[in-house]
Amino acid sequence: MDHVVRIVLPEEWPALRQLRLAALQDPAAPVAFLESYEDAAEQPDAFWMQRAFRGAAEDSGVRQFVAEAPDGGLSGSVTVIVEEPGAATPFGGQVQQRQAQVVGVYVRPEYRGGGLIEALLEAALEWSWTLRDVARVRLFVHERNARAEAAYRKAGFARTGVTSPMPGGSSGQEVEMVVERP
Ligand SMILES: CC(C)(COP(=O)(O)OP(=O)(O)OC[C@H]1O[C@@H](n2cnc3c(N)ncnc32)[C@H](O)[C@@H]1OP(=O)(O)O)[C@@H](O)C(=O)NCCC(=O)NCCS
Repeated sequence: MDHVVRIVLPEEWPALRQLRLAALQDPAAPVAFLESYEDAAEQPDAFWMQRAFRGAAEDSGVRQFVAEAPDGGLSGSVTVIVEEPGAATPFGGQVQQRQAQVVGVYVRPEYRGGGLIEALLEAALEWSWTLRDVARVRLFVHERNARAEAAYRKAGFARTGVTSPMPGGSSGQEVEMVVERP
């Protein structure tokens, strides 16, 4: 794989904005992401600066990993959010234990099927296991997003049996998948 997987840099916010807007226009976007393209496209530069800054910061509770293509462009990304006990989750309910959640998973179509998602998820898990008291990493995937679910399964995630209706009026269920600390 000729891509470099690394933590995002704060100054990369314009490229991050471009990658996110491309993700939100993907045919899978309605089942893949909770944010809409219209809302994201209206956000001011400060929003993207803050997102990149938080994703890059050492102790913000968020870590964003990006894949950099040989031409210097960003080819994909995953973000890890640390969930503290008692916090509300986007799918209802409360977080029971300190854990990490993978969100914002995206690889540009021209780079799919090349192992990039495996490298991004590996980086996300590796970082999660450096966190104190994080015993599991979870994510939610739509029941009809078979390609994403297959990629997660290959990375070691397994369904927990917990499901939740897709917020925002889209049809179908979000399925929780988890990897336990090795
Ligand atoms: C999800 C995503 C990151 C996966 O990356 P990818 O490079 O496409 O993943 P892969 O090509 O390695 O596919 C993963 C597995 O799914 C399989 N697969 C491919 N197309 C599939 C399909 N239509 N249905 C079911 N499985 C499929 C692949 O064969 C592969 O398994 P294998 O390596 O054992 O053959 C990428 O497709 C993407 O960005 N999709 C749009 C956004 C999205 O859905 N994000 C996830 C939100 S939860």
